[in-house]
Amino acid sequence: MDFTLIDKTVNLLLKASHVIVLTGAGISTESGVPDFRSPGGIWERYDPTMFFIERFLADPEEVWRCMLDMNNSNEFKLWEAKPNKGHQALAYLEEIGIIKTVITQNIDNLHQKAGSRHVIEFHGNMLYAKCMECTCKYGYEHVLAELKEQFPPRCTCGGILKPDAVFFGEAIPQAALTESFKEADACDLMLVIGTSAQVEPAASLPLIAKGMNPLLRGFGTMPIPKPRCHVIEINWEPTPLTGRVSDFLIQGRAGEMLSSIEQKIRKIKG
Ligand code: APR
Repeated sequence: MDFTLIDKTVNLLLKASHVIVLTGAGISTESGVPDFRSPGGIWERYDPTMFFIERFLADPEEVWRCMLDMNNSNEFKLWEAKPNKGHQALAYLEEIGIIKTVITQNIDNLHQKAGSRHVIEFHGNMLYAKCMECTCKYGYEHVLAELKEQFPPRCTCGGILKPDAVFFGEAIPQAALTESFKEADACDLMLVIGTSAQVEPAASLPLIAKGMNPLLRGFGTMPIPKPRCHVIEINWEPTPLTGRVSDFLIQGRAGEMLSSIEQKIRKIKG
């Protein structure tokens, strides 16, 4: 564990006035929910086209069967997963007023379960399902009970229920998009935790925080760095942001790094 970078992050967190966090699947792997692109990740075990919106519209039953199989498989229980010390550390930093907002790409509800209150769900939330006709929303317990009766599960109005997660090809919920871009523009410190930073538009948020123009991404983004904004990555491995957008990468397990940051701040705060 690189203590100098941990100490540097603690100092920046204590000095910053608007701290936000962007999280990806890597913060939940220590809760038993695999990420997508690491070896053995979800996209190695399940066909990603299963989560294309066109596929769901064409055959909702097949997609629901796949999701039930994912949840019933021994590998991971999305709906029963518990928050880990990484989620808990972020909830603590929000509680003492250091973190303003968590923007998460995850659909596992673990930030909320850990106690984070201002969470923007960039890709929705798998613990709910919405009616494709009347948009009525149901919790996953209701859906699991429905799935015992009929495939695909239906709303009382007869409409088909769709998981309330954003499928590939679907728009990011407008409110989440607008608020996330606003937060990224306003922050003076962004922690980017457990994401490979490969999926747009979430991957542009650190560039916006840094004052870089995401439209020039890939053409050697011309940095117009915001004078006082820091972007710090906490990740298992370097990402496309490392060395180009983020100030530095704390390489390691998110739970361990975040817990170490939390302990240091608890000690300082007394
Ligand atoms: N600690 C730190 N980093 C970790 C840990 C861990 N315990 N476990 C995994 N990682 C890192 C991996 O090395 C990888 O860089 O987290 C990153 C996870 O990347 P992805 O699997 O691509 O997940 P994410 O970035 O969230 O994917 C974004 O892609 O498939 C879509 O909608 C899906 O929201 C998802 C989006």
